[in-house]
Amino acid sequence: MDLINPQVQLYAEQYSSPEDELLKEINVFTQKHPESQMLSGHLQGKVLEILSCMIRPRRILEIGTFTGYSALCLAKGLTNDGQLHTIEIREDDAMKAREFFSRSGYHSKIILHLGSALDIIPALNETWDLVFIDADKPAYIQYFNLVLPKLRENGFIFADNIFFHGQALEEEPKGKNAIAIKEFNEFIQKRSDIEKVILTLRDGLFLIRKL
Ligand SMILES: C[S@@+](CC[C@H](N)C(=O)[O-])C[C@H]1O[C@@H](n2cnc3c(N)ncnc32)[C@H](O)[C@@H]1O
Repeated sequence: MDLINPQVQLYAEQYSSPEDELLKEINVFTQKHPESQMLSGHLQGKVLEILSCMIRPRRILEIGTFTGYSALCLAKGLTNDGQLHTIEIREDDAMKAREFFSRSGYHSKIILHLGSALDIIPALNETWDLVFIDADKPAYIQYFNLVLPKLRENGFIFADNIFFHGQALEEEPKGKNAIAIKEFNEFIQKRSDIEKVILTLRDGLFLIRKL
């Protein structure tokens, strides 16, 4: 299902800044990955970069590194003394991301953790300015609950795949991921301690601000 009209998508990409050389290489490399659709890609990557440059975070947490594309986009907004922690459970993807990070200007600012995010997040003693949730969908509510107390006031959480390929819009979605995303969206909608908006970008991106 094309959520975004492909002509509109192409137009938006053509009139947005191009990917830098390393991001282009990661994009091309990831197209050969069996789960290439998980990549944020040009347009969403550029949105993440610009939002991060607007926020100027000192501490970013990314949950779900994959091949490192979105981490490198978000890292562009870090303050001079900033750091981005990113967590990936699959060793092959983490090793590839590490290789790409080492070739970027951000290798000393990105800390890659290999393992399960539910184990690693509680061990990170940081106050987050920005958190990007982009890993296993059934754990989204747990990730939100784990990071919110460690998010500074006026800090941001971005959560990806909020439409889950359109399946989250169904009355009774069938797959466990679509069910989990629908539950997450309803959970977020009901909360009054955050401001939120869904960007109709790619597969849906929730922008959440802690009040
Ligand atoms: C959608 S991809 C991330 C895409 C990446 N953020 C980007 O935009 O290029 C999700 C990643 O989360 C990882 N993942 C899934 N469950 C996880 C968990 N429990 N802890 C850490 N990473 C996990 C997957 O292996 C996968 O690489």
